[in-house]
Amino acid sequence: MTDRSQSLFLRALRREPAERTPIWMMRQAGRYLPEYRATRAKAGSFLKLAGNPELACEVTLQPIERYGFDAAILFSDILILPHAMGLGLGFATGEGPYFERPVQSPAAIDALPMPDPESDTGYVMDAVRLIRTNLPEMTPLIGFAGSPWTVATYMIEGGSSKDFATAKKLMLAEPEAAHRLMNHLADATAAYLTAQVRAGADALMIFDSWGGALSPRLYREFSLASQQRIVDQLNQTCPDTPLILFGKGCGQHLELLADTGCAGLGVDWTMDMGEARRRVGDRVALQGNLDPAVMLTTPEVIAREARRVLESFGEGPGHIFNLGHGITPGVDPEHVQVLVETVRGHGETGDGRRET
Ligand code: CP3
Repeated sequence: MTDRSQSLFLRALRREPAERTPIWMMRQAGRYLPEYRATRAKAGSFLKLAGNPELACEVTLQPIERYGFDAAILFSDILILPHAMGLGLGFATGEGPYFERPVQSPAAIDALPMPDPESDTGYVMDAVRLIRTNLPEMTPLIGFAGSPWTVATYMIEGGSSKDFATAKKLMLAEPEAAHRLMNHLADATAAYLTAQVRAGADALMIFDSWGGALSPRLYREFSLASQQRIVDQLNQTCPDTPLILFGKGCGQHLELLADTGCAGLGVDWTMDMGEARRRVGDRVALQGNLDPAVMLTTPEVIAREARRVLESFGEGPGHIFNLGHGITPGVDPEHVQVLVETVRGHGETGDGRRET
């Protein structure tokens, strides 16, 4: 059968019974894999790798070929969209991303262009098309973007930040300009994600990596509201494509996130999976949530902790196994194999209908 809608991953997102829990890993294409490091060296830099559809396709497929994960994720970055707005993205060795032209005033916000997904980020859409052609028929492809708040932290701070002081100052002191920035990013993100679906993405994910840094009020007013704006637009443009919202440190907002109308929620490791499930009920599927640090231990500890996550979620459909955040560069690739085998061996999640 080659009806991808019947894949374990897409069935789990619809909370339909399946014979086992699907698994993929955030940052599954990355530096822990020697074949990734080789392709990256060939490309010369991360940005050249992400900007080259053939090479982006190659690294997207590497973890699928090695482990047979139940979903692939487009190889790109959440900062490609602000890069397309002309901020000048760069990566300093060992220091992470930076923007040459950060956005720090209302005038700079109002001058931001609205990128056209096909002409300004055509290489991303070309990568999606190429990956879809080369992936196994039954392996769904996840397209993604960052949340407006998380992307804005990099745009405002000019790079990574520990306390997000400049970004928070803008939200607090210039709320109207900050709202215009969130709306602009939400509209650009919805168009960017819609284009990924048209190019062949089977599901979408939004990374709100820094949502947990906001007070509850600022979270609702800026991060949640702008993600809601994206969900509403995607429900118009691609209502059949499931969307996962991942908010790191956002466990306290789980019910609000489940009420946005998304299909699934990514859960980080600071929450108990069973408790997360009780709180969202049957509104959404849940994805997660093994602590990435577990992957640095031993095969025995990895198998034990993975089973804890599976048992905490419990019987029944609607679970996608993942880490609670991205895999770290130092992980032994053999450890990922142990994780995949543990989850695969864990048994049925519903009435056991077989995928053929
Ligand atoms: O998950 C995947 O395998 C798909 C590809 C992907 C990357 N970044 C590739 C990448 C995805 C989904 C992202 C998302 C991303 N990027 C987020 C949100 C998710 C999260 O981890 O919280 C954030 C905050 C970024 C911004 C970013 N990109 C940072 C801070 C850095 C530098 C730190 C680091 O990990 O090196 C990047 C670079 C980056 N993006 C790398 C990869 C594989 C490493 C680049 C390299 O090869 O040197």
